[in-house]
Amino acid sequence: MHANPTHRLRLTFLLLMVTATCLGQTAKLEVNVHQIVSPISPTLYGLMTEEINHSYDGGLYAEMIQNRAFHEDWEGTPPWDLILRGNAAAARVLDRTTGPSESLNYSMKLTVTSASMGSEAGLTNPGYWGYGLKPNTIYNGSFYARADTAEIGPVTIRMVNNATGAVVAQDQVTLRPGPWMQYTYQLQTGSIAPSKANHLEFTVSHPGTVWLQLVSLFPPTFNHRPNGLRIDLMQRMAAMKPTFLRLPGGNYLEGMTVDERFDWKKTIGPLVDRPGHNGPWFYWSDDGLGLLEFLEWCEDLHVEPVLAVYAGYSLGGSHVAVGKDLEPYVQSALDEVEYVTGDANTRWGSERARDGHPAPFPLRYIEVGNEDYLDKSGSYPARYAQFADALRKRYPQYKLISTDGNSEYATKVSSDLSDEHYYKSPADMMALVHHYDDAPRTGTKIFVGEWATRSGSPTPNFGDALGDAAWMTGMERNSDLIVMASYAPLLVNVSPGGMEWPTDLIGFDASTTYASPSYWAQSLFAAHLGDGTAASSISGANNRFFYSATVDTKAKVLHLKLVNASSLDQRLTITLRGMQGSRTASVTTLHGATFEATNSLSDPEAIHPVASQVSIAGGLVQHTVSALTIEVIDVPF
Ligand code: AHR
Repeated sequence: MHANPTHRLRLTFLLLMVTATCLGQTAKLEVNVHQIVSPISPTLYGLMTEEINHSYDGGLYAEMIQNRAFHEDWEGTPPWDLILRGNAAAARVLDRTTGPSESLNYSMKLTVTSASMGSEAGLTNPGYWGYGLKPNTIYNGSFYARADTAEIGPVTIRMVNNATGAVVAQDQVTLRPGPWMQYTYQLQTGSIAPSKANHLEFTVSHPGTVWLQLVSLFPPTFNHRPNGLRIDLMQRMAAMKPTFLRLPGGNYLEGMTVDERFDWKKTIGPLVDRPGHNGPWFYWSDDGLGLLEFLEWCEDLHVEPVLAVYAGYSLGGSHVAVGKDLEPYVQSALDEVEYVTGDANTRWGSERARDGHPAPFPLRYIEVGNEDYLDKSGSYPARYAQFADALRKRYPQYKLISTDGNSEYATKVSSDLSDEHYYKSPADMMALVHHYDDAPRTGTKIFVGEWATRSGSPTPNFGDALGDAAWMTGMERNSDLIVMASYAPLLVNVSPGGMEWPTDLIGFDASTTYASPSYWAQSLFAAHLGDGTAASSISGANNRFFYSATVDTKAKVLHLKLVNASSLDQRLTITLRGMQGSRTASVTTLHGATFEATNSLSDPEAIHPVASQVSIAGGLVQHTVSALTIEVIDVPF
């Protein structure tokens, strides 16, 4: 059947309508790589973490035993449990009269009244939602113990598979009666299948009494550091090409109360001298990852520390009065800076040397507090002034960051940088992309110390990645003002009960990690940063299209970041001024089918970057950025 001319006309019109609806109109993007309009801060992208979502204990800090120091809560000392095999009889109780140190002056007392071979008694620990074991690997363990007599015999340590009961690795330690001593043990796996479904057992096969404290087990760590960090998570962070680490938090710096702040002096030195403390995210921290470990983490990632000092305000709302009351806290901050930067003959530099790191660490930025705009008493300006006076007098070379925060909330104190935080939905983040375009360029610079597009849980979905990418185009364009930025939170243990705060960049469990779509977006942006923003203009794009045109002036590469958060493909005519001849550009594409599309432990690679190439002749490109797509195009010139 043939369509008559009127039908044909209607059909063509319909087709045109459908095509127009799918593609939208062609936008014109012009970039002049020879005209740099503003510099890009080389430290724009960094990291921020804190003890939240089991980021450290049960996460980055590689300790495998949960509650190694038998911290007691209303349930007792979870997740430790008693093992009574066969007809063994034993009891365990937290003994507050004896421990290996002043800081750990209590211990777990195990009284075994009946035990024999095959009827052992002891303690078991499930780890942090399992023990992620790998084949042919050595795990180094230690514990402090006190035994009254030798009759209790050796302690057998076994790693046992939860499903089969098979002993995956084991060792034995003979106890010497007498005072507290530290013992070591080693568990070596054979050719097992990697698995987290394991638990740990400490048993004896004779009656007697033993007290235990600081029961520890470590896998191989990043750079083989003793008391070190998980290799897979460090590798994930390194791949983001960060330039700094903001430490130690976040609310973790403040604590819920003044007493629960990150009191750095209690987080250094031998582990047995660290009492641990209650974090603001509703769980205990052993402080195995203390100030020195933070600094060594920076060293291992080749990033600079951005040191936040406690400024006398805690999350629960309490603050320390300015003047005499605040003096010890100011002194603590001065001492902390000396611990980080002082040479080995200063009071606190020598302490650091004794802790195993004689060389001072580099430092340029000191942040005074965290989110002090939440202090409704209005005490921050005066507290900041007291800290700033002392810090500037003693350390005039460092830049100070204030935390009276977001311009929409607060009257600002006069600092070198102001830390502003943004947690937004995808739509709200996209609406904020031009927030800094017209901000004043004189005076205080900006540190976006926490930011995230939040809708996915536990980790960002593709809609969040689009929001993040859109936001990053704004930060890059304004990087003459925004000196540093760090997404937060970075890490989440996705095991049931591991998370306090959804949306977190990198998910992990006891065995493995996965990268969220936002992780890929951020890694792409950071790996293609450049040192200047090129002159550019766009017209005719949909209102959910964002871009950034930065240039690496030394390598002579244009990094074009194109973010299409619309459900319509975006056609572009790109004119690259001053680029004659032909060249090949490399394209990296990140695409999600929907805003909700995401990665997870079970589907870690659902969304991942895909590389391709595009040929450019005479500085003109006809290019389509598909709907829901983030692209980075590197054009050499
Ligand atoms: O990133 C989670 C929390 O958000 C941080 O601890 C705090 O600074 C902010 O309110």
